Amino acid sequence: MFAAYRADIDRLVAERGFKSVDVASIAPDNPNRAELRKKFLDEHFHKEDEVRFFVAGSGLFTLHVGDKVYEIECVKDDLIAVPDGTTHWFDMGDEPSFVAIRFFTEPDGWVGHFTGTDIAQKFPRYVPTQAS
Ligand SMILES: [Fe+2]
Repeated sequence: MFAAYRADIDRLVAERGFKSVDVASIAPDNPNRAELRKKFLDEHFHKEDEVRFFVAGSGLFTLHVGDKVYEIECVKDDLIAVPDGTTHWFDMGDEPSFVAIRFFTEPDGWVGHFTGTDIAQKFPRYVPTQAS
């Protein structure tokens, strides 16, 4: 998996100064899927860019910027970088399926800081638009 993307990973790490890279994956039969889905389902931000490259499957990032909300469905071969400090939430759906390479600048940079609002609950939850 890493081998196939090695050149792209190395380029991103060099360009953006990432300190670590790992792979997150989940399958629809994961017994902890409901708990894992809930983790980032409410509005939060991070103190570094949230950078993900989707190798397979999909998920929905929703960005809350000013008085606008942007839904971004990420599917295979999509690279997303949610800027540092941008309020957002992420839904993997109720039958989650994805493999994503994650890029980190700080060891604890991806920790979610929750805003405590209920805005995320006012929008439809994620239903994948295509088979993954
Ligand atoms: Fe996040």
